[in-house]
Amino acid sequence: MDRRQLLLGGAGAGALLAVPGRAAVAAYSAEDSDGFPMPAPLQRLLPRLPDLDPSRTRLELGWRFHEGDIPTPEPQGHNDTYLSVKAGNARGAAAMAYDDTDWAEVRLPHDWAAGQPFVRTANVSEGYRPRGIGWYRRALRLDPADRGKTIEIHFDGIATDATIWVNGSVAAHNWSGYNSIYVDLTPFARFGDETNVIVVRVDADAKEGWWYEGAGLYRHVWLVRRASVAIISDGVHCDPRQGGDGRWRVPVTATLANIDRAAASVTVEAALLDPDGREIATQRTDVTVPVLGRADAALTLDAGNPARWSVEAPTLHAVRTRVLRGGEIVDERRVAIGFRTVRFDADKGLFVNEQPVKLKGVCLHQDHAGVGVAIPDALLAWRLERLKAMGCNAIRMSHNAPTAELLDWCDRMGFLVMDENRNFNPAPDYLAQLEWLVRRDRNRPSVILWSVFNEEPMQGTEAGVEMVRRMSAAVRRLDDSRPITAAMNGSFYNPSNVSTVVDVMGFNYYQGDYDKFHRLNPTKPMTSSEDTSAFETRGAFATDRAGHVITSYDTEAAPWGGTHRASWKNIAERPFVAGGFVWTGFDYHGEPTPHEWPTISSFFGILDLCGFPKTAFDIHSAHWVDDRPVVAIAPHWTWPGREGQPIKVFVTSNAETVALRLNGRDLGVQRVDRIMGNEWTVPYAPGRIEARAMRGGKIVATAVHETAGPPVALRLTPARMVMAGDDEDAQPITIDAVDARGRHVPTANLATRFTVEGATLLGVGNGDPNCHETEQFAGPAGERSLFNGLAQLIVRADAGGGRIVVRATASGLKPAALKLDRADIAPRPQVAMVPAVSKVRDWRRSPAFAQRPDPGLAPADGDNNSWDFIHSGEPTPAEAQPGWRIYRARFIPWKRIAAEGGVITFDALGGKAELWVDGTRIAVKEGAATAPLSAPIAPSAGPRVVALLVNAPAGQPSGILGPVAITGR
Ligand code: GAL
Repeated sequence: MDRRQLLLGGAGAGALLAVPGRAAVAAYSAEDSDGFPMPAPLQRLLPRLPDLDPSRTRLELGWRFHEGDIPTPEPQGHNDTYLSVKAGNARGAAAMAYDDTDWAEVRLPHDWAAGQPFVRTANVSEGYRPRGIGWYRRALRLDPADRGKTIEIHFDGIATDATIWVNGSVAAHNWSGYNSIYVDLTPFARFGDETNVIVVRVDADAKEGWWYEGAGLYRHVWLVRRASVAIISDGVHCDPRQGGDGRWRVPVTATLANIDRAAASVTVEAALLDPDGREIATQRTDVTVPVLGRADAALTLDAGNPARWSVEAPTLHAVRTRVLRGGEIVDERRVAIGFRTVRFDADKGLFVNEQPVKLKGVCLHQDHAGVGVAIPDALLAWRLERLKAMGCNAIRMSHNAPTAELLDWCDRMGFLVMDENRNFNPAPDYLAQLEWLVRRDRNRPSVILWSVFNEEPMQGTEAGVEMVRRMSAAVRRLDDSRPITAAMNGSFYNPSNVSTVVDVMGFNYYQGDYDKFHRLNPTKPMTSSEDTSAFETRGAFATDRAGHVITSYDTEAAPWGGTHRASWKNIAERPFVAGGFVWTGFDYHGEPTPHEWPTISSFFGILDLCGFPKTAFDIHSAHWVDDRPVVAIAPHWTWPGREGQPIKVFVTSNAETVALRLNGRDLGVQRVDRIMGNEWTVPYAPGRIEARAMRGGKIVATAVHETAGPPVALRLTPARMVMAGDDEDAQPITIDAVDARGRHVPTANLATRFTVEGATLLGVGNGDPNCHETEQFAGPAGERSLFNGLAQLIVRADAGGGRIVVRATASGLKPAALKLDRADIAPRPQVAMVPAVSKVRDWRRSPAFAQRPDPGLAPADGDNNSWDFIHSGEPTPAEAQPGWRIYRARFIPWKRIAAEGGVITFDALGGKAELWVDGTRIAVKEGAATAPLSAPIAPSAGPRVVALLVNAPAGQPSGILGPVAITGR
C-alpha cells in the first residue's frame, strides 16, 4: 500500500505536500484532563516526507563502526613510503583492504556519544559525555549500468571534523558538524564486482559549540546517481516574486553539469504544480553545457494569483525541473515552494503577506532524550507538533544549520525560520559553509531570515563589521529576497558595530536596551533573536539548590535573561520588536547552567529533554494561542503531608476571567493576566482543584488536577496508535504510573522496565537533568526511572505489517501492555549491503622475460620504476611476443584468515600460470585461455607475499584480468 494514499486518499503533488501539523494540533485539546500532560494518541499515520529527488537512495545500512582512533602505521622502507602517498593507497583503517570484520555493524543516523556514560572529567558544556574519535567503513557495489553517471555520496551531517576516503583516496575533508558534505565519487568509482570502499574518520573532540554536539554520522546519508548531464546538487533556485501588477512569477534557475567528453545541448523544462499536482505553468529553454563545466538555465513561470503560504495555511506548490536530452527525460528534481511576502518594518515589526505577525519563537538545538542528535525524521515532526500546540510560530535554528528534514517539516507545518550559520568567518573554507546553507535553504518558504552569527565578541569591532559585510555579500549573491541578521549581545552603540551592516538587528537579551536602540536607530527593524534563559525543572515546584532542582513557577532566570513572562512582556508591549525566540524550546544535553556536575542537561527548555511540558509550556500557550481558549494550573495537586499548608496556585489562560475552585468551593474569580498569569494562595486539601476559564461569562475551557493516590499500575501512552512498518517511522511512548482510579501520579519516581516487540528501542529518557541512567540499550529491553511521574521510550517500527507490543513493569505495580498497529508500508529503498571481502588489488608487474624467471624475483626497495604498478581487473595490453612475467603483491590477511587460513581466488587469469604464496607454489594453471584460479592458503599473520608467474601467449589478454579475493575456507 502506498502510505500517502492511505493517509490522504490521493497520490498527487497535494498528497506529497501535505500539512501534517494542522490535523495534529486539534488533538491536543485533550491535554491536562487528569493531570496527565501528554496529548491523546492520534489514530493516524504521520505522512512521510516526500522524496523530491529521485536520484537519491539512502545509504544507511551496513556501516561498520570502530569507536576510538586507529593510528596509521608508519611506512617501512623507501618503496612503502613512496607508495603510501599515492592516490588510492590510503593506509591503516583508511585502506581499501583493511580488515573491519570485527567492527560493530551500525545503521545511520548514528550518534555514538548518545550511548556514552556521563563522566565527571568530560566537558561540562557537552554534557559530560566523552565524544572522541571514531571510524566508519562501508563497502558498496555500483551497477555497471551506472558507469558514465555522476555518482555522489551526500553526508547530511557529520559531528564533527571528518576525513572521507573513497577507494583509498581522500575525497573530502570537512570541518563543521552542521553542514552537508557532497562527495563526488565519479572519478574514483568502480563498477560490477569491484567493490568500492567508503571510509570516514570522525574527530568528535573538535568543538563548535558549548552544548551537546553528538558524534558521528548522525544525519542521513545518500547515494546519488545522476545522468552525465544533469542538475547539480542543490542546483535549482526558485525565487517567487510578486510583481507590481499583483501577479506572482517564479524565476527558476537550474545549474547543470556535464561529465561527458563533449559539450551537450539539452532542454530544461520547469513546471509549476499546484497543491494537487496540476501543472499551472510550464516553460522550456535550451542550454549547452561545456565539458566538465557548468551552465545555468533560467526560466520564469507565471503563477498568476496562487494560494499563499502562511503560518496558518502553509500551502505548498512545487516546481518540477526536468532535463531532456534527445527528447528523453534524463533528470528530474522537485522543489517545494510557497508564495508569501515577508517585510520587516522598523516601527511595526514583521509582515507576512502584508499581515502583521509577531514572532512567537523558540531557539532549538538538535537533541532529544535517548537519541542524542540522531533524531529520527518522525520525532522531529512530533517535536514541532508540540511547539505548534502552544502557539509557537517561529524557530531559530541555533546556532547552526539544522537537518534538512526539520526545515521540510517547517515548510509543511507553517513555521517561520531564522536560519543560522555556525562559524563566523569569511575565509574561503567557512564562507563555503555559509554558501552551502543558503543554496540548500533558499527555496524554503519557512526561511525568512539568514543569521550570520550568534554572539560574537568581535561584533563591536571594525574587523567584525568587515567580516559581516563579506558574509552578507556572499548571502546576497545567492539570495537577495530575505533580510540578513546577526544575533548580537552587546556593543550595540560602538561606532563600529555590526548592527550597522545587517538588515534586521537581532537582540540577544539586553531587553532594557530595546527602546534606546530603537530611538537611536529609528529606521532599523529589530527582533529579539534570543531571550528568556529562564530555569525550570519539569514537575518541580520548589527550588533545591543543593539537589540542582529549580522550581517551575517561572521565578528563576539567568542574570542576563528574564522569566518567561517578563521576557515576553518586553516583546509583546513593543510593536517595533518583531518578536522573540525563547531560549529554548526543548531542554538539551549539556550547558547545565546554573549548575555543573552531576547535572548533565539544561534547565532552559519550555519542554524538557523528552518533550514533556513544563509550566513554561502553559505560560506560552496563554501568551501565544489565539485560535482556541486555553487554561492550565500549576502545580499538580498531590501533596500528601502538606494538608492545611498554603500552596501557591498559578493559573495561565488566554480567556477573560478565570475562576478557581477547590472541591467544589469557590476560591474567587480573577481577571486574566494573559502575560503574567494569575495567582491564588490556597491551603492544601486533597481533592479536586479546577480552573474555569471564561469569556463573556461563559466557561470556555477548564483545567483540573485531582489528588492522586498511591501508584498501583503503569500506563503506556504513545503519540500515535499506528505506525508505518517501514523500518523508519519512530515515536515517543510515555510511561507513567496511575492510582487505583486510573489517575496520573505526578509524584511517582519509581523504576520501570520494559520490552519492545515489532519495533526497535532507540532510547529512553525522563527529563531529569540530574539523571545518569543509561539512555540506550543493545536489545529489546530497557529500564528507566520515572521522574516526577513520567518517563519516555522512543521506538522505531520494524519493517512489515503487524503489531508492536510494548510491556512495562515496575515492582509492586500492575504491568502495562500497549499494542500498536504497524501498517505494511514499503521501506524506502536502501543501497544494498555488500559482504566484506578481502581483495588483493595492487600488484607490481615485472618486465617480460623470454625464459621462466625465479618466482622469488622482486624489484629492489627504492626501485619504483622497473616494474609496473597494476590494479587487478584493469587489463594490460596483450604481449607482442610469448614470454613470462611475474606479478607480485603483499597483503595483510584479515584476522580470521590469519588464524584459520583461507582461499585465494583470481576471477579471471589469462595465460598459463603458477601461483606462489610466501615462497611455496600452491597452484598451477595449465591452460592459456582466460579462466579463474583458486587455491587454499595456509593460516599465518601477515604480511604475506603472492607471486604469480604468468606464461603469456602472444596477442591474447594475459595476467590478472579480474578481481582477486581472499575468502574464508
Ligand atoms: C546565550 C547563547 C546560548 C546559550 C544561552 C544560555 O548567550 O547564545 O547559546 O548559551 O546564552 O543562556
